[in-house]
Amino acid sequence: MRPPLIESVAIAVIGGSGLYRLFDAGTSTSVEVDTPYGPPSAPITIGERAGRRVAFLPRHGGGHTEAPHLINYRANIWALASLGVTGIISSSAVGGVSPEYPPGLLVVTDQFIDRTSGRADTFFDRGSVAHLAAADPFDPILRRTAIAALGSLAEDFVPSGTVVVIQGPRFSTRAESLWFRAAGAHIVNMTQYPEVVLASELNIGTVNLSFVTDADAGLSPEEGADADAVSATLVFARLADAQPRILAAIDAILGAIPGDFAPRRLVDPEQVAAVLA
Ligand code: ADE
Repeated sequence: MRPPLIESVAIAVIGGSGLYRLFDAGTSTSVEVDTPYGPPSAPITIGERAGRRVAFLPRHGGGHTEAPHLINYRANIWALASLGVTGIISSSAVGGVSPEYPPGLLVVTDQFIDRTSGRADTFFDRGSVAHLAAADPFDPILRRTAIAALGSLAEDFVPSGTVVVIQGPRFSTRAESLWFRAAGAHIVNMTQYPEVVLASELNIGTVNLSFVTDADAGLSPEEGADADAVSATLVFARLADAQPRILAAIDAILGAIPGDFAPRRLVDPEQVAAVLA
């Protein structure tokens, strides 16, 4: 069910905290998409970046009005799918729970540990059931593309990392942070789940670009703990500083995505078509 008069758009950027616009004023078209799940976080803007037509959706809403645990992830992904999106670059702010993932680092996340609760995390809960293969939740082609693009920018980045996704909106206790690290997580965030699996359920590939804003709560001063405990003020200040780097990274990835990009078909296309009908 595509909104009328909108030419389809294959690639989308989902903006995380601090990234609420992708296009200069007056250079994009704004589309309000109605979905069976209610409205997405914001109207979707469609414009051009890095020589490519791109759809943009700020996951927290244009004015950061949607708390992480209340974001309508299904509406967001359904809305993008309805415009013809097959690949997503998602940007996220994360804390570092491992000393190897210090503030300032970009991470092309490859695994998640879900510690959220009560979020609507499937399109297949009625009538038609799908059991998504989630061993490697991010799209391998988009990940390879992003890693090569960041390499060509000489960015301070790592090509893999496990994110633990917490329910939020509060940050973690010191004990939780140490536990996440012991469990194998490198970074922590509040929104990467269920976004990526919902996209996969509609056969949309996702690559995540995470920016480490803080050292969360579990690190000792010798391991690089921040002088102050993590706070929203700290996170937003560091995101603002890093905005040019994050945008340059997104542009490099956008410019490098192959023109014939096709995501994995993890779910029967007929079942996907039924969700979008
Ligand atoms: N986003 C940015 N920093 C974070 C942290 N320390 N915990 C959870 N989400 C975050």
